[in-house]
Amino acid sequence: MLSPETRMIIKSTAPVLEDHGVAITTRFYSRMFEEHPELLNIFNHANQAQGRQQTALAKTVYAAAVHIDNLEEIMPAVIQIAHKHVSLGVKPEHYPIVGAHLLIAMKEVLGDAATDEIIQAWSDAYGVIADAFISVEKSMYQTTAKQENGWNYFKDFVVARKVKESDVITSFYLKPADGSNVPTYIPGQYISVRVSIPGEKYTMIRQYSLSQASKPDEFRISVKREADNDPNGIVSIYLHKQVNEGDRLEVSAPAGVFVLDASKTTPVAFISGGVGITPMMSMFETVATSTPERPTVFLHGARNRSQHAFDEDIRSFVNRMENASYSTVYSDEENGFITRAMLEEHVDPAGDAYVCGPVPFMVSMIRELRNIGMDDSRIHYEFFGPAMDLEEL
Ligand code: HEM
Repeated sequence: MLSPETRMIIKSTAPVLEDHGVAITTRFYSRMFEEHPELLNIFNHANQAQGRQQTALAKTVYAAAVHIDNLEEIMPAVIQIAHKHVSLGVKPEHYPIVGAHLLIAMKEVLGDAATDEIIQAWSDAYGVIADAFISVEKSMYQTTAKQENGWNYFKDFVVARKVKESDVITSFYLKPADGSNVPTYIPGQYISVRVSIPGEKYTMIRQYSLSQASKPDEFRISVKREADNDPNGIVSIYLHKQVNEGDRLEVSAPAGVFVLDASKTTPVAFISGGVGITPMMSMFETVATSTPERPTVFLHGARNRSQHAFDEDIRSFVNRMENASYSTVYSDEENGFITRAMLEEHVDPAGDAYVCGPVPFMVSMIRELRNIGMDDSRIHYEFFGPAMDLEEL
């Protein structure tokens, strides 16, 4: 428990952290990686380069500090981040390293303004926040380990099949190398893939949504090939160009909170842009097979026909369903965007909508869904990358 004095100091200095948060966390990361280069095996270097991760961490520490009296309020955010941490293999012993470097960076950036008393208060507060993460993550690790065919951290998988879905998206069917089955997962969840790319000093980890309904013996991920000059593209290019059927990849157990409530039978809309279609495929296939009578709409925006993945699969699911519709628009063509009018025509605002795609797409879809009268509690979304990028919503 934090003392009342500590709480007061935290609350009164939280705005300073907001102002200098990014400077502090930027400094923090460079210090931490100098002393603990092994952590570069876990962190995404591209996110670091773009400053996205710094912002995410700074904002979370700030939000936690503001709610230090009642951390319950930020529990949904803690749980979402904890899923990511568990998928990456973050361990309790990592927290003191992060904490120590965060405090040193605070002291460096704030200078004399950061008195010993203030630093001590933040050290205590970090301890409380870290304990919340550690305990949530501990119970997640326990649940995953206990699940049938579940495991913690990374396990060897073999690429059983590699299938081109469009000019830019390729699917990888992954089976455990030890011949076991895979755990059941909730549609919408993701796995982490860890690779050692020849010539790269550190391992690289990326999350990919599972792109088919849960199957007993395999996972499927569908990876977009990023541009050659995109720092975030190194893993996707490696997977596309160098990983072939029969090769091994390290995979972590399914995680994530952007999931379909498959028990519902009320109207549902799946709205995706580009490779944001991947979690929708898992959700849509699940609805098509388990509740085919559910009123369902699938709206998708792609650049053009050649970048449009899964068209035939979606059509075959629609054919099996009693009340499903499917429309696609191509942004390379005139008026090729999902508009408010299109949402109005297809989406029942009393149902649920699942949205996934690039940030501008998500921002626009969420705004228009609100405009057609859909309540926030029914709009579910996931953005690929640090979640805080959607703060502007
Ligand atoms: C991701 C917060 C501790 C490693 C994140 C994200 C947030 C966050 C907000 C972005 C989540 C998203 O993408 O949706 C925190 C907070 C911590 C903490 C508040 C302390 C209380 C740690 C520790 C480690 C760690 C101890 C391990 C050394 C990572 C990694 C990512 C991540 C590797 C993925 C992003 C990337 O690769 O750049 N964390 N974290 N975090 N966290 Fe933490």
